[in-house]
Amino acid sequence: MNPVYEKLQTCYNSIKDKIPFVPKVALVLGSGLGGYAETLQIEAVIDYHEIEGFPVSTVPGHKGRFLFGYVGEVPVVIMQGRVHYYEGYDMTDVVLPIRLMKMMGAEVLFLTNAAGGLNGDYRAGDFMLIKDQIASFVPSPLIGENIGELGPRFCDMSEVYDEDLQTMIKEAAQECGIKLQEGVYVQLTGPAYETPAEVRMCRILGGDAIGMSTACEGVAANHMGMKICGISCISNLACGMTDQPLSHTEVQETADRTAPLFQKLVTAAITKIG
Ligand code: HPA
Repeated sequence: MNPVYEKLQTCYNSIKDKIPFVPKVALVLGSGLGGYAETLQIEAVIDYHEIEGFPVSTVPGHKGRFLFGYVGEVPVVIMQGRVHYYEGYDMTDVVLPIRLMKMMGAEVLFLTNAAGGLNGDYRAGDFMLIKDQIASFVPSPLIGENIGELGPRFCDMSEVYDEDLQTMIKEAAQECGIKLQEGVYVQLTGPAYETPAEVRMCRILGGDAIGMSTACEGVAANHMGMKICGISCISNLACGMTDQPLSHTEVQETADRTAPLFQKLVTAAITKIG
């Protein structure tokens, strides 16, 4: 058997008896949304350490566990803490949790992150609906022998971010009175922030927000035929767009400050999706 698929099955088998329900939505919490779960009724928790062979994050502020709970009436599996490519994992490990949540039964993947704004109309603290992505700067998680059980060798990428889900999120934002930008997310490997020249390059390429996660997850989920949506919290303007240097502290602070509004938006969106 394909070793990547075998590892996935080992992970799944080591936790399947602890999964309390079939989740409809898989929600990935980015920086600042880490506390989201505290607002929910949680039915079960599976720490990443409990999962045989599972990649565990090393970034401060990133907890590592799956939470199972309800957003309104919607059964949701929540990834509290993701692993990043820059931590040194193989890309197949980075997306393993996404694949695992699909194996649990989740049909919808809801991605969130903190990102730098590339679009000159954006301000720190804005939210951006992800309309499309550029993953060309990171290795594809689909490289290697194709896992036919998950999806096809050459998968179509014409609508990674589902149009219907985008409409629902826009409606949810409007109903909450939350301003929502829309744009293209670019993933770079990190962990260094970009230079001003790299930021200009990404703008020329059509990016509106830049970060170090998410797009690879979009590739893996699209391969499996999941319906995908995503929202970025614009935690800062990208390097060179202001006269201030960038720091992880600033990113974290903006993400934390906007968290209540972000949580409100995510709850309203998932309720609508359900
Ligand atoms: N660049 C890359 N990743 C990020 C940024 C940024 O400006 N802000 C938050 N994550």
